[in-house]
Amino acid sequence: MRIGILGSGLMGGKLGTLFARAGHEVVFSYARSQQKLNRLAREAQGNARAGTLGEAARDADVLLLAVHWSRVDDVFKQAGDVTGKVIVSCSLPMDAGNTKLVVAHTSSGAEELAKRVPKARVVSAFNTVPSEVLFGVFAARRKSTRPSLVYCGDNSKSKGIAAALIRDVGFEPVDAGPLRIARYTEPFALLVAQLAYEGKAGPELAYRFERFGK
Ligand SMILES: NC(=O)c1ccc[n+]([C@@H]2O[C@H](COP(=O)([O-])OP(=O)(O)OC[C@H]3O[C@@H](n4cnc5c(N)ncnc54)[C@H](OP(=O)(O)O)[C@@H]3O)[C@@H](O)[C@H]2O)c1
Repeated sequence: MRIGILGSGLMGGKLGTLFARAGHEVVFSYARSQQKLNRLAREAQGNARAGTLGEAARDADVLLLAVHWSRVDDVFKQAGDVTGKVIVSCSLPMDAGNTKLVVAHTSSGAEELAKRVPKARVVSAFNTVPSEVLFGVFAARRKSTRPSLVYCGDNSKSKGIAAALIRDVGFEPVDAGPLRIARYTEPFALLVAQLAYEGKAGPELAYRFERFGK
């Protein structure tokens, strides 16, 4: 796939690198320095290059949105026409201090995003994992048991594309349902961050759902 990375920071930089290593064609865009985008493209060791938001969006099959909530409007203003594009968003609707969600309970960042870019197809994914685990998951991707990763969206074809990318990174995709399920996955992402970054000797968070009665 041709993948435009909109936001090449902790999440976009790492996921873009792994998508390139998994064989996709990647354009890194949106960082404060051109040198950083060039370095990411060079170090991705795959088919990757640096570009503007417009270049990243124009020929892409999929766009990864990985910016702070406050930058979303700026990104889509510069990206241009995103009609028909699949947007996989890992962006969480956080306040300026990254301490709380500014959209929650009766809506979600993913749903608000879908309203802002109504001609695109939004899938919410990758926002429940800290960026620090991504390379480790990719390195272990051929093992028989893979960590699960939930995603949600309203368009089945777009969700299939997101699921393929989730598998390429090394996770087992778990379809959590329509985009409104992001109302529950976004707060869950904060729980993971809380445990990962604020716990003194943080627990390893693992969960398993058994199907009873089968
Ligand atoms: N980090 C995580 O573990 C994690 C996990 C789950 C979800 N998320 C969510 O994912 C989204 C991205 O998080 P992140 O940690 O990847 O953020 P980040 O490291 O700050 O990346 C954001 C990117 O946007 C760029 N940027 C910001 N302002 C800009 C401007 N004015 N002009 C050009 N580029 C600009 C940054 O440039 P520079 O590279 O120059 O700084 C950076 O490349 C957020 O919504 C976050 O809540 C993050």
